[in-house]
Amino acid sequence: MPQISHHLLLCATPTKALCCPDPALGAASWDRLKTLVRELSLDTPDRPQGIVLRTKADCLRICGDGPILLIWPEGIVYGGVTPERIERIVFDHVMGGTAIEEWILRRYALSGSAAPTNN
Ligand code: FES
Repeated sequence: MPQISHHLLLCATPTKALCCPDPALGAASWDRLKTLVRELSLDTPDRPQGIVLRTKADCLRICGDGPILLIWPEGIVYGGVTPERIERIVFDHVMGGTAIEEWILRRYALSGSAAPTNN
């Protein structure tokens, strides 16, 4: 079974456009994210570090300072995402393991252990 290294959720083109009034910026950021993940083979199932998943979300309940990008497993929320910022986030955070502190809006933590059992 393939491992997952990161899951990136981008509120790129939300229905209500609350976090970013410019849909073109979110759409361009989403396109850059998709292209980068593909070009860098981060979505390859046999990637030793695990697959990088990306999902376009409709709202991540921040609703300001967008476009908003949430990255698990760290639970880090980046704001003001642009195609250029996506590049640095992918290279420095996802691949390099170093979060970009000046762009972080919020940090979440998973509560408890939700590991499934095989019952
Ligand atoms: S509309 Fe983007 S986080 Fe809510």
